[in-house]
Amino acid sequence: MDETRDLFHRLPVKQVLPRLLRLAGLADRGLRNALDLQVTRNRLAVLPPGSRLSGCTILHLSDLHLEHFPELIGAVTAAIAPLRYDMCLLTGDFAFRHNVVDAAVDGVRELHEAITAPTYAILGNHDSIRIVPPLERAGIRFLINEHVRVETSGGAFLLAGVDDCVHYRASNLERALEGADQDGLTVLMNHAHVEYREAADAYLTGHTHGGQICLPGGIPIMSNASAPRRLISGAWRCVAMQGYTSRGVGASMVRVRFNCRPEIVLHELVAR
Ligand SMILES: [Fe+2]
Repeated sequence: MDETRDLFHRLPVKQVLPRLLRLAGLADRGLRNALDLQVTRNRLAVLPPGSRLSGCTILHLSDLHLEHFPELIGAVTAAIAPLRYDMCLLTGDFAFRHNVVDAAVDGVRELHEAITAPTYAILGNHDSIRIVPPLERAGIRFLINEHVRVETSGGAFLLAGVDDCVHYRASNLERALEGADQDGLTVLMNHAHVEYREAADAYLTGHTHGGQICLPGGIPIMSNASAPRRLISGAWRCVAMQGYTSRGVGASMVRVRFNCRPEIVLHELVAR
């Protein structure tokens, strides 16, 4: 989440909130909640009728923040073991602290060993670019304002990724799509939502953690104020573009979640 925008992030929340939660007897429950991964299934209705890409499935993991929460490696590994998917997309925030590289890389490398399909990634606002070379050597392809043509058994489509738009302000959609043939399906990864109207057919993002600490009913009390409420979690639509904001896997600031389970998303491509 963006530490600069809301009141909770301007307060010394990292120091104060854990103490408050312990005093209230809620710390253990919050930690259990933060490990209680949900597998969410989402249909992306972005294909023309009869497309051979129908049924292609994308495993979407976001906001791992693994060095801050290494217990999640085992939890994610167990959760994805029975799943079938054609590719894995990682939408940023591998680390929690910008200056931590080795621990974040080690965690992602370990998790990547459990992923059984080609894996593509973008950087988030917590990520140093220094994580890219070792993770690319491990087989994760980063898209930093660039695109690739992804081959699947049902055909190919265009996958684009932009750099972080929150902390490093380095996103460049124009460069990411430069020279791209957008006649077919285009899927765009961006760590945090920005207003890219109709930039792609499908738009996958994260960053908000769905609020992470929510009131009953999933109403966020900590959120990224730059994103409209409807974009804080789950599926959304912008004209013809279908979007999905993942609640993320990890937790930031404090290792707790309330009324906002961490999620692993399986997106199935289907006809419009
Ligand atoms: Fe983020």
